[in-house]
Amino acid sequence: MRNKQGLFAAMFVLAIGAYAVLTAVPAVSAAGKRGPQYTSDGKLMLPVGYRDWVFVGATVTPNALNNGKAGFPEFHNVYVEQANLAAYRKTGNFPEGTILVKELTLVRNSSHPDGSADEASGRGFFMSEFSGMDVTVKDSKRYAKTGNWGFYNFGHHALPYATAAAEATKEECAGCHMAGAGKTDLAWIQFYPILRAKN
Ligand code: HEC
Repeated sequence: MRNKQGLFAAMFVLAIGAYAVLTAVPAVSAAGKRGPQYTSDGKLMLPVGYRDWVFVGATVTPNALNNGKAGFPEFHNVYVEQANLAAYRKTGNFPEGTILVKELTLVRNSSHPDGSADEASGRGFFMSEFSGMDVTVKDSKRYAKTGNWGFYNFGHHALPYATAAAEATKEECAGCHMAGAGKTDLAWIQFYPILRAKN
């Protein structure tokens, strides 16, 4: 009898524990999936927590290889939330509300004319300090004229970035993406094996 009561008590504790775990998980991911936030005058607010999202990849356009002034200096670190990455891999399209963050970072100690440096692992390009941020947001109603995505530049300079940014014009941003990546939901997937991976 006593053992039975003990067993019920243990099952009760386990059930409470399982309930806590199951309910905690959606709460966490819901908080992570906040989606784009706008100011009252329609500017996009600087995304928060993006360095904890999935790191999709990093192209690098060193200043030294671009007449001293790359359009996007120099590493381009791209982040997306996990749920949106999973949806893209499955369908080839990002869900509404997806935010892609491209945070720029300068190369370190460029001691060669091409901007490269010698480090313990070899000659190459190594990251130093953050140097800017560009963001795209998917919303097929709000951004119907620019391929379903809105484009925002929070500054190409050291931290801190702007806290809010007005939508960039089609000439500044979307035109190039629509021309070059129109078939892949405006993301340049050829540069991101993580977006192309099926597992
Ligand atoms: C002349 C073409 C061109 C223009 C203009 C341009 N981009 Fe891009 N963008 C690219 C290319 C190519 C990539 C991927 C490779 C890279 O980052 O070097 C990219 C990548 C991105 C990414 C990472 C996700 C993705 O789509 O691959 C974001 C975010 C982004 N751009 C935002 C912007 C914003 C905001 C502007 C305007 C301020 C802008 N871009 C202007 C060509 C362009």
